[in-house]
Parts: sequence; structure tokens; C-alpha cells
Amino acid sequence: MRLYLQLLNIITLKELLSRKTKLVVVHHVSNVLDSVLPVRDIANWAHGVGAKVLLDACQSVPHMPVDVQSLNVDFLVASSHKMCGPIGIGFLYGKIDLLSSMPPFLGGGEMISDVFLDHSTYAEPLSRFEAGTPAIGEAISLGAAIDYLSGIGIQTIHDYEVDLVRYMYEGCFQSQIFASMGRHLQKRSNKLHFVPSMLRIFTLPILRQFLINR
Ligand SMILES: Cc1ncc(COP(=O)(O)O)c(C=O)c1O
Repeated sequence: MRLYLQLLNIITLKELLSRKTKLVVVHHVSNVLDSVLPVRDIANWAHGVGAKVLLDACQSVPHMPVDVQSLNVDFLVASSHKMCGPIGIGFLYGKIDLLSSMPPFLGGGEMISDVFLDHSTYAEPLSRFEAGTPAIGEAISLGAAIDYLSGIGIQTIHDYEVDLVRYMYEGCFQSQIFASMGRHLQKRSNKLHFVPSMLRIFTLPILRQFLINR
């Protein structure tokens, strides 16, 4: 159990933050440990030292309600293919005042507002960051996927997954044959990663080494 706690000692992150920190990038839900990070706290710590927060919500957006305003993150990214959408596209959310203050990172069609002999002005976000012909088909398909998930209801999907995971725990883990990688975490998601119990003794040290070296 100590190993699990060491892996997710989030206070270590708080101690690493300083006025030199510009951007804190964290995942919302880990695809390895099933953990859900205390994003609002992390955002408060980061903002306290003047840093911005980018949340990787690839594993949370399709499975649970995610409210950017209550989490108070500055940017959020998620990928389409984890939300029943096509591959090759995802999305970036950013607070509008931040996006408006940022220069474009690519030049191309539709990101220019006016062109003068000696300078150009840029389009407002989001066009400013979408130079060239966008992935139109993928964007339409992603929109359809979001409509599909919204039609079912993210809360409904979340509640269903809670039931599924509970069923899995009761069915498999009581037998002691399988062990969940994140079962001791205080706050875990509805994802479930598990290994045969006997293998966990080998897997955890390797996993820990892997995460420490990243
Ligand atoms: C938290 C998280 N972020 C990012 C990714 C990678 O996303 P993509 O496949 O869109 O590159 C994954 C993949 O599993 C993930 O779990």
C-alpha cells in the first residue's frame, strides 16, 4: 500500500511549484492507476505562484461530468477517439482572455484578419489558431460523437460505469486472483486496470520506476 501512496504523492507537486513555474500540466484521470487528481487544488496552488494550468482530460471527459469553470483550469485538452469520435482530432479549451492574448503559432488561411504592407493583424480566437483548411470531416464526426454521448448523458454513463466497476470488484477481486492497480487510492475513477495477484509483486516496482523516470 505504501507504494501506491508514494506514486501519487501530490503534495510533492505543490512543493515543486515556485514563481519560476509557468505552466502546470496534469492529467485528470490516470490511465495507469485509475486515480482522479484533485485538479481544483492543483489549480489553486499553480495560480498562487502565477502559473497556468493545462488539464489533460482525455480519460475523464468521456466518463464523467467535467466542469472547466469549477475546476478553474486555464486550458483543457481531450482526444476524439476516446469519446466515440474519429482518430486524428481532439480539442483544446482555453479561457478566452488567455487565448486572445496569445500569438498564433502557425501561419495560413483564415487566421489573418487584415494584411498591410508592413504588418498583419490576426483573427480572433479560435480561427487564430486554426491556420489552413481544418479537418472538416473529423470535426463534424466529433460533433456527432459529442451529441451521441450528450444524448445518453455523461452522468448516466458515469453512473452505469460505477455499477459495472462495483460488479467487477465483487466478482473478481474477492477471489484474490486479480488485483487492481489502483484499488487503494482515495479517489479513483471508473476505469479498472488489474493484473493477476501474483504478478503485482513484480509489476508495481517496474511501474514505480517507470513513473519516477518520466
Ligand atoms: C491521459 C491521457 N492523455 C493522452 C492520451 C493520448 O491520447 P491520444 O491517443 O489522443 O494521443 C492518453 C492515452 O491513453 C491518455 O490516457
